[in-house]
Amino acid sequence: MDAILIEGLTKKFRPGWPGLPSVIALAGLSLSVRQGEIYGFLGPNGAGKTVTLKILLGLMRPTSGSAELLGKPAGDVEVRRRIGFLPESPYFYDYLTAEEFLSFYGHLAGLDRAHVGRRVTQLLDLVGLTEARTRQLREFSKGMLQRVGLAQALIHDPELVILDEPMSGLDPIGRKQVRDLILSLRDQGKTVFFSTHIIPDVEMICDRVGILVKGKLLATGRVDDLVSHGHTQSVEIVCEGIDAETVPDIRDASTRVLRQGRQCLVVLPGPKRLEEVLAAIRACGGTLVSVTPQKGSLEELFFKQQAGPTNEQAERKA
Ligand SMILES: Nc1ncnc2c1ncn2[C@@H]1O[C@H](COP(=O)(O)OP(=O)(O)OP(=O)(O)O)[C@@H](O)[C@H]1O
Ligand SMILES: [Mg+2]
Repeated sequence: MDAILIEGLTKKFRPGWPGLPSVIALAGLSLSVRQGEIYGFLGPNGAGKTVTLKILLGLMRPTSGSAELLGKPAGDVEVRRRIGFLPESPYFYDYLTAEEFLSFYGHLAGLDRAHVGRRVTQLLDLVGLTEARTRQLREFSKGMLQRVGLAQALIHDPELVILDEPMSGLDPIGRKQVRDLILSLRDQGKTVFFSTHIIPDVEMICDRVGILVKGKLLATGRVDDLVSHGHTQSVEIVCEGIDAETVPDIRDASTRVLRQGRQCLVVLPGPKRLEEVLAAIRACGGTLVSVTPQKGSLEELFFKQQAGPTNEQAERKA
């Protein structure tokens, strides 16, 4: 059973004024998240990430299509207890302290009094707010509120954690803490589905990623697969003892040749003519220093997807 199964989800919003076109937030979205994985839901502003998450939580109804969580339809009350959720703009009761706020949610989730106290202490430590635990939330910075929101999502030890932009508003240290926290959730066997537009965070921790643009999933898969199949991999060769630019075989096969002191950097568009170039370097008496295949980045893929998928990428869409 998948942790999340979304099939053909569409969501249209009626226009605010008669005569204006309706907004299509989701246009036939299908994706699945396996149990125990970290899935990054990556997309630019307005792509439809929050709308998808709201539908999953039963906070919004889709126009058509279906969504299941842990084998039950989205919005199922029993399943809701097994899910933790960090909304995009959480509403906080300003006059509560961090400790009171989390205790409140702990009681709402049905935890008993003794258990709530222990859990709140544990979570405040986990999100780095132990020292601020008796301060009122109205005094909190954006990043501190984000941390309280995360602690709230985890209070009842859910098996599926859904986070809308969990790294938003956090400094680099906070982002690393959230990444580590997400990884530790996976180590405990939990499933994490989170939306973001921060590419490096996805690259670092996700088992799989889906790229959402204008309500459609344009690509999904393991980060490594998306990155290596989506592009020609260039190869960088560093050699010494020759002026590579003057060797016709090298010049013809490369996209760039740069001199760096005694060394030359030769960039090939792909591995196809690698052997030929290596032979040319040796034939001129050059010494090989290194050969490094360059992996494309998710960032390149992301920008490419927004410009419109290539046929190859469209085929690999989920
Ligand atoms: N309640 C609503 N009424 C009308 N349109 C809406 C509503 N909620 C969302 N939309 C529209 O749906 C589209 C997707 O919005 P959504 O909030 O899901 O984007 P997002 O991917 O979460 O973006 P961001 O990265 O900015 O949070 C946008 O065009 C947005 O204007
Ligand atoms: Mg959003």
